[in-house]
Amino acid sequence: MEEPNAERMDYVRGKLAAAYEKGTSPASTLDRDPREVEAPQRYFSELLEEVNIQERLGGTMFLRYEDSLDLMRNKAIVQPGNGLLMGSPRPLLPLDLDGELHTKYRKLLDPLFAPRQINPLEERIRRMANELIDDFIEIGQVELYKGLCDPLPSRIFVAMMGLPESDRERFIAWKDRTIKPEEGDPVEMLAGIQAAGAEMAEYIGGVLDERSAASEVGDDLLSQLLHAEVEGERLTKQQVSDIVYLLMIAGLDTVTSALSLIFARLADVPELRQSLVDRPELIPNAVEELMRYEAPVASSSRLVTEDIEVGEVQLSEGSYVLASWQACNLDPEIFECPLDVDFERPNIRHTSFATGPHRCMGSHLARVEMRWALEEFHKRIPSYWITEGETPEFTYGGVRAATYLPISFSAVGQAG
Ligand code: HEM
Repeated sequence: MEEPNAERMDYVRGKLAAAYEKGTSPASTLDRDPREVEAPQRYFSELLEEVNIQERLGGTMFLRYEDSLDLMRNKAIVQPGNGLLMGSPRPLLPLDLDGELHTKYRKLLDPLFAPRQINPLEERIRRMANELIDDFIEIGQVELYKGLCDPLPSRIFVAMMGLPESDRERFIAWKDRTIKPEEGDPVEMLAGIQAAGAEMAEYIGGVLDERSAASEVGDDLLSQLLHAEVEGERLTKQQVSDIVYLLMIAGLDTVTSALSLIFARLADVPELRQSLVDRPELIPNAVEELMRYEAPVASSSRLVTEDIEVGEVQLSEGSYVLASWQACNLDPEIFECPLDVDFERPNIRHTSFATGPHRCMGSHLARVEMRWALEEFHKRIPSYWITEGETPEFTYGGVRAATYLPISFSAVGQAG
């Protein structure tokens, strides 16, 4: 398969280096308003009453649903160099591609994450959720981020990839160091991210060497990637490595974060939790509604390659733009009473998996992981709440999460 256009990658790199020199970056969280961190839904809802865009250190952020859709479909915007931002020495595939080459990669990769590939994993995923629940069900209390939200997606991922379970903790550490670095000086942060990324890339390279030397093609995702073809073309080992690097980052952290936010909300609002226990058939729509409301990946960022106008806003070549998925999901022109969490809300066209050509490739997997985890959890632990005297902690980097979630519960058959 063709390689990303080197000239364009240099252009992206140059702009990124200049942004870092100025003390900014497209993924900048440096100037985040404290009110946004505390209660993003209220913050963005109020902001939407006043403005359509917000200027940030990272660039111009679009808040409206329709504007953001137009922005993401505009051909004069490109990815801002996610590989570099996430510590990879190379572009991440397919995220760092644009245009026709991006479409070609998606054609090859989409079928590997389609429902017919993912749905047969149902029993295995439900079992993994139950094994984790077994570890704390007798205790009546758990810190749920570490107990379930963090380990479940990585167990699933390791199994799908055909990687050793014993290396799982290392993947979690790498992805945390690449996407949740200690905040501070942007240049130092980038150096730390790159060190973790280099270790991860080396590990992936080693596994791919072993896998491609194997005489038989396994049914795991890594083997499938090494043998996948589109229009008669195959991926090189390096390209598979660039894909796997992205999957480790995209597939491990996002579902963990989303699950943690969902459980935090349900533990905090007993009526919502009870409605799902009483009517588990609502869970699929509840997952969509909670994804709308929580929007764990708060925004997507792009680099503008020509002077353009979007939503009556002039954007100049070389500037960065963002679409705020969190704000789009609260746009009152699209969602009636956007601050209400309503599990029976019809036709929830949320943007939490982004819109446009880079729409999330793992959305089906993410959705079913969340549905099946909630169903299994509620069967055994229908009643749970935030542990008295404890306060959950929320972190808000590029991905928002409840990274400390102490809950107490009465399990089925236990006295409440
Ligand atoms: C709740 C969980 C998830 C959320 C909220 C989420 C969100 C997103 C978002 C917002 C994007 C767009 C990025 C951009 O515009 O620059 C994206 C892209 C992507 N996601 Fe997800 N994601 C989730 C789970 C997953 C999983 C489980 C996988 C795979 C194992 C995955 C794989 C990808 C890939 C490969 C892309 C890049 C697609 C492209 O560039 O064409 N995601 N995701």
